[in-house]
Amino acid sequence: MNKKTKNTEFENNVIQGLTNNPKYLSSKFIYDSQGDKLFQEIMAMPSYYLTSCEFEILKNQSQEITKTFNNKEGFDLIELGAGDGKKTKLLLKHLVDKQSNFKYFPVDISQNILDSLEKSLHDEIPEVDVETLQGTYFDILNELSTYNKRQKVILVLGSNIGNLMHDKAVNFLEKIQENMSDQDLLFMGFDQKKDPEIILKAYNDPEGITEAFNKNLLSRINREFDADFDLDSFKHWETYNPETGTAKSFLVSQKSQKVNIKALDLQVNFNAWESIHTEISQKYDDETVEWLAGQANLEIDNIFENENGFYKNYIFKTKP
Ligand code: AVI
Repeated sequence: MNKKTKNTEFENNVIQGLTNNPKYLSSKFIYDSQGDKLFQEIMAMPSYYLTSCEFEILKNQSQEITKTFNNKEGFDLIELGAGDGKKTKLLLKHLVDKQSNFKYFPVDISQNILDSLEKSLHDEIPEVDVETLQGTYFDILNELSTYNKRQKVILVLGSNIGNLMHDKAVNFLEKIQENMSDQDLLFMGFDQKKDPEIILKAYNDPEGITEAFNKNLLSRINREFDADFDLDSFKHWETYNPETGTAKSFLVSQKSQKVNIKALDLQVNFNAWESIHTEISQKYDDETVEWLAGQANLEIDNIFENENGFYKNYIFKTKP
């Protein structure tokens, strides 16, 4: 009998995505330790304006932002996908300076990321009462919804929602909303529609960092499933549709070829110029955000935007 009974989520995505027509792979599997490193490099690129725009909002408007979620009994600040916390530290510093009564719960799937965040917080802002929570967003939100009765402020930064098509984005918001009481708030970043050229440059840097990030999907399949993808024979290709606001990443096979994925007992044929769709990075406007929120029983309470309007952070509450 075959020892192995259950495929992992990544295995299933590779089998389903690469036998589908058209081919696809999910961007969430880009993020192993190599992918995390490449994403850090992307966030430091000037052309990837999202990071600096959100930083600008949190730096210049932390007073107005924290005013909206600073209540008398104190509150719990829960960050989904905390990362290195560079932007969040701007809010935390401000809250500490104001002697606000709050506790910070960074949530991440990676214990490594949480450990280094906790250490850097102890060094930089030791006054912050922090408890790291390792796990998936919704398991943790579920646990926290019964943790105590005081206000919860849920942070989701970085326009991470943009990596989900609208139906999945609504599911994501719905799951958050289900764990929110009337007084709770959701603070979330959404990259905005803008000059298509600026968007394309953000996802198509000449240094090839985004290309390496995108190709990390194929490198991971090579590493983890003993496959023989020839990375140089695939081209990173970015498109942006200004009508829908959807940026899409592809890997395009520049020749006809066969790839063996030994551990999955799978051979994949590529025609010349056949593509694998790997990621969407949705861009928004207020109407779309309002519609998404409404579908999930949320409403916009406040909007903060950076100076050139490239990026906005919205505060949502549950609909009465
Ligand atoms: C994490 N996410 C919001 C990034 C984005 O902008 O879609 C991932 C990324 N892909 C290419 N560059 C950055």
